[in-house]
Amino acid sequence: MYTLTNSHGVEVRAMNYGGIIVSIRVADRKGQFADIVLGHETLEGYIPNPPYLGAIVGRYANRIANGKFALDGKTYTLPQNDGTNSLHGGLKGFDKVVWDGAPLKGKTGVAFTYLSKDGEEGYPGNFKVKVTYMLTDTNELILDYEATTDKATPINVSQHSYFNLAGEGNGDILNHEVMLNADRFTPVDQKLIPTGELRAVKGTPLDFTKPTRVGSRIDDNYDQLTLAHGYDHNWIINRKGADKGLVLAARVYEPTTGRVLEVSTTQPAVQFYTGNFLDGTVTGKHGHVYQRRYGLCLETQHYPDSPNHPDFPSTILKPGETFRQKTVFKFSAK
Ligand code: BGC
Repeated sequence: MYTLTNSHGVEVRAMNYGGIIVSIRVADRKGQFADIVLGHETLEGYIPNPPYLGAIVGRYANRIANGKFALDGKTYTLPQNDGTNSLHGGLKGFDKVVWDGAPLKGKTGVAFTYLSKDGEEGYPGNFKVKVTYMLTDTNELILDYEATTDKATPINVSQHSYFNLAGEGNGDILNHEVMLNADRFTPVDQKLIPTGELRAVKGTPLDFTKPTRVGSRIDDNYDQLTLAHGYDHNWIINRKGADKGLVLAARVYEPTTGRVLEVSTTQPAVQFYTGNFLDGTVTGKHGHVYQRRYGLCLETQHYPDSPNHPDFPSTILKPGETFRQKTVFKFSAK
């Protein structure tokens, strides 16, 4: 377990099992600290971890249809662990392996590295991945991702923290206000696989271009909400032209505590998931029972099932290339 603290008393704890962010303690508008991520007090609590609480997800975060993709004329088969889909890297994804952890030199942070061997969970290539968590004195948690491979492979890595800015276990997230910097999303079919359409959010309950209460439209009679039982979609982050720099993807505000989370990223999209599948079967920290919609995830990433959608931005990493992405979680209160 690595504990990162800054000059404002913000504290982030992360462990080498699954690269899991175990807790994030930040102040509210009155200076009261609370832990704002769902999780467990013991390692055993995370084994198993069906909701992927706090974990790094990969080699391919999100879904790959039918657990199959073709690359360079070869078809690859992945474990189907979500109906017929392969979800979050398969049966033993990056969330269930032990990473090597090392403190960052001269910085408040930790680097987790992992070698995913050729053929692991069906993916090609010896894949070296490094994820660093760094906490700054401006209350930013900076996530840096870096990876290389010796055979072409699809890659999509993300962070699966469930936030509740009122404090973990303190009710559902329906009163949180969310802004997503995205004019379009990728509609899904019954299996939550993108249909290939890029749909405008305008005029739909998925329009979060202005800050909106999560609960105000979540149960609207709209095909995409019915299919996903709430929000569980990939929003395409607005960018100027081919810019691949850091942009604001999301802002979340919790009115009772004033806590704010801002998510910026170099990634093309963000999966906004409202914990619709939490169902009270997981008991987390302090005996808190995590009921439906008790946390929300903002998983910055590529579009789901990209290896089967040649028209989506490519997720293929080739030998000789280095994959690099950055996501920043910034905490404040107002
Ligand atoms: C997915 C959800 C899934 C959850 C697993 C999210 O990234 O979008 O559909 O149920 O992960 O906990």
